[in-house]
Amino acid sequence: MSSDTTAKPQVPEPCCFVIFGVTGDLAHRLVTPALYNLAEAGLLPDDFCVVGVTRTEIQSQSLHDDLMKALQQFATRPIDKDVAKKLFDCVSAVHADPSEEGSFDRLKARLDELAKRGVKNHLFYLAVPPTAFKPICDELGRTGLLQEENGAWRRLVIEKPFGTDLTSAKQLNHDLLRIVEEHQIYRIDHYLGKETVQNILVFRFANGMFEPIWNRNHIDHVQITVSEVLDVGRRGSFYDATGAMRDMVPNHLFQLLSLVAMEPPSRFDAHSVRSEKGEVLAAVQIQTPEEALNNSVRGQYVAGRVGDKQIGDYRNTPDVDPLSVTETFAAMKLTIDNWRWAGVPFYLRTGKALTSKRTEVAIRFKQAPFSMFRATEVERLSQNYLVIGIEPTEGITLQFNTKVPGPTVAIDGVEMGFKYRDYFKASPSTGYETLIYDCMIGDNILFQRADSVEAGWQAVQPFLDAWAKAGGEGLALYRAGTDGPREAHGLIERDGRRWRRLNGS
Ligand code: BG6
Repeated sequence: MSSDTTAKPQVPEPCCFVIFGVTGDLAHRLVTPALYNLAEAGLLPDDFCVVGVTRTEIQSQSLHDDLMKALQQFATRPIDKDVAKKLFDCVSAVHADPSEEGSFDRLKARLDELAKRGVKNHLFYLAVPPTAFKPICDELGRTGLLQEENGAWRRLVIEKPFGTDLTSAKQLNHDLLRIVEEHQIYRIDHYLGKETVQNILVFRFANGMFEPIWNRNHIDHVQITVSEVLDVGRRGSFYDATGAMRDMVPNHLFQLLSLVAMEPPSRFDAHSVRSEKGEVLAAVQIQTPEEALNNSVRGQYVAGRVGDKQIGDYRNTPDVDPLSVTETFAAMKLTIDNWRWAGVPFYLRTGKALTSKRTEVAIRFKQAPFSMFRATEVERLSQNYLVIGIEPTEGITLQFNTKVPGPTVAIDGVEMGFKYRDYFKASPSTGYETLIYDCMIGDNILFQRADSVEAGWQAVQPFLDAWAKAGGEGLALYRAGTDGPREAHGLIERDGRRWRRLNGS
C-alpha cells in the first residue's frame, strides 16, 4: 500500500512463491485468482515462479492443471489465455511433508536450483490449517530456508487464526520469532485487503477537517457491526471449537477498531502505522470477569428463515455438538483508556445467520447541546452519524438535519453520501491482490505485528474466560434471519443508545 499518489506501482523483484497447501481451498479460491489478476495487471516480476508443496507426490503437470481448473472456477475476470499460460508455465510441484524426515531437503534443492537461475527471493505462503504452522516453520528453519543472506529476502505469510487465546498467540509468536525476524512475517487479515478498510486511514489522515472532531468532545459512541447472513454450513467442526468471538473479534473487528481509533502516525510507513495500531489496542480497557459478563451478550441461532433459505438450529449443524454452547453471535461494549477516547463506548457486534450482510463502522456525533426546534418530534431528528460502509455498500455517508421546505421550521434527517462505485471503476478482485503484492514488495503496513495480535487477545480474553466459566448460562438464543438476540439491544439501550438497523439505513 504505497503512499505515493502519482508513481506507477513498482514491479516486485524476481521471486519464487512457495505455497504450502497448494491444492486446498484457500489456494484455489483466493490465492490463484489473485496471482492471475496481478499477472494481468503486469505486477508480477518477469522472473517469477510458483512452487507448490504437496504432502503426496504429484507431477508438476497435474498441479498445473489443477490450478488452471481452480482459476477457471474462481476467476474474478475473463481469463486471458496468454497471461494464464505464462503464469502456470512457471508452476512446479515439490513433495515435502514436515512429518517425513528430510523431505524438506527436496524443497531446498529445488529452491537452490531456481536461485542458480536468478530467482533468489522466496515467499513462503502457508495456506494450511494452523496446526501445520509450527511443523512447517520448524522444517524451514532446520533447512535454513528462512535465512536472509547475500541480499536475498525470505518472507513468511500466515493466515488467521493467530492462536486461539492469549497464551497460544504468545506461544505462536514465540515459535515463529525463534526462526524468523518480525519484519519477515506477514500475518494476513483479509479485512485489510478491502479497499474501504484501507480507506479509513486515508479518510482520517488525508482530510484535515475530521481530526479536530475525532475525539471524546464530539463523538458520543462508535458502533462496529459485521453481520452475516451465512450460517455455519459445512464448517461445523472448525466453528464449534472457535465461536463468533474468536473467529471475528480480535482480528477483523479489531482491525476496524484500531484504524478508526488510532492516533495519527508520524509517517505513513509500516513501523509508524503498526505502532499506533498496536498502541490503541493495548489501550482497550481490560475488563474484570464481572464487567466482561455485564458488558457482553453471546447468542446462538435456532431455526429460522434467512431470505428464502430455511436454516436449521445451529446445534443440528453437521460436526457440531448437539449440546454446544458455542456462540454464533457476540456483542460487547469496550472502552479505550486514553485521552482521545476516555468515556466513549465502542459497541461491537457480529453474528451468523442474521437478517442481512452488513459491515460498517458508524461514528455517532454528539447531539446539538439543546434543541431550539422544540416543535420537531425528536425521532425526526437525524442522529448525526458518519458511517463507513464496507459491505454491501462501499462508501461513506454523513447524516445530518435539514429544514424541510415550507413556511414553518420543520426538520428532517438527510444523508450526504459517497459511493465508491460512482467514482471509481475497479476490476473485480479477490481482495488478496494488494496483500500478496505488498508481501512481494516488502511493505508490511497492512499486516499484523506480534504486539497487536497479543493486545487483541488480551482485550478479549476476559470475555472468553467469563463465558467459558458461565457455560450455557447467559447464552441467548436468536432466530435465524433476525438481528440477533433481544439481549443485545439491552446492552446498548441501557446506556440510552440504539443499534443501527441491520436492514435499511
Ligand atoms: C472469516 C471467518 O475470517 O471471515 C468467517 O472465518 C467469516 O467465518 C468471514 O464468514 C467474513 O469475511 P467477510 O469478508 O465476508 O466479511
